[in-house]
Amino acid sequence: MVQNNADENFSRNRTKQGCEGQRWFADRYARNARFVADLGAPLLDMLAPRAGERILDLGCGDGALTLRIAEAGAEVVAVDFAADQISAARALGLDAHVMDGHALKFDAEFDGILTNAALHWMTRPDAVIDGMWRALRSGGRLVGEMGAAGNVATIFNAMVDAMARRGVEGRAVSPWYFPTPEDYRARLEAAGFEVEAIELIPRPTVLPGKMEAWLETFGEAFLHAMPEEDRPAILAEITEAVRPTLFEPEGRWVADYVRLRFRARKPEAA
Ligand code: BEZ
Repeated sequence: MVQNNADENFSRNRTKQGCEGQRWFADRYARNARFVADLGAPLLDMLAPRAGERILDLGCGDGALTLRIAEAGAEVVAVDFAADQISAARALGLDAHVMDGHALKFDAEFDGILTNAALHWMTRPDAVIDGMWRALRSGGRLVGEMGAAGNVATIFNAMVDAMARRGVEGRAVSPWYFPTPEDYRARLEAAGFEVEAIELIPRPTVLPGKMEAWLETFGEAFLHAMPEEDRPAILAEITEAVRPTLFEPEGRWVADYVRLRFRARKPEAA
């Protein structure tokens, strides 16, 4: 059964992940963010999971992509920080667990790790990379995609500007980590990974609904930093600021997503 425990999600986010105010509700996610798993499908080809392999899905969300790994015949373990998402993943029959990506509790037990659109919510990347390294067996592979430097920059800048007009420093409350390929490669290599591929991919992304819905789903940490009574005006202001760049004449919103996609390996000898 999907649970909707706002307080639990909120306090977990405050204390552990550094995403103060950002909450994950499976029903809202399904409405406004289904595209996240759909667009993660190329990662499945990169991972190429095989029957009998043991795969970790880090930041599984509601399990939509995890299910496809399981359908390939692999034994998949899914983890996510948000209890509501894990409930949704379990409802799909998945082996899913609430876990902080900064403190993965696995030891040399996976043939592969897939992580889609999750690492940018984890603001201590080296702790996450160390946990992924430990979780993989020697020779294991890591396939991931996350927001890269410049991701949703138009929206981010509009949010920061709207907050600055009210005397609040938006950058200070940002829950996002969008690295360059050079930054992330260096971190992976410092941990011991062999980086086989890493690239930055601009990927303008058609949103399923209005800009306000995107902001409420993904930008909650920013909105939460503002007085509740100001939020409707701020939402409207941000929407109007990004409209000239992100609203297409056909009547759809296209967000300026930029992805960092990579494949790395824990060497056989390690
Ligand atoms: C993303 O790149 O998937 C993303 C990151 C932060 C907010 C929204 C989307």
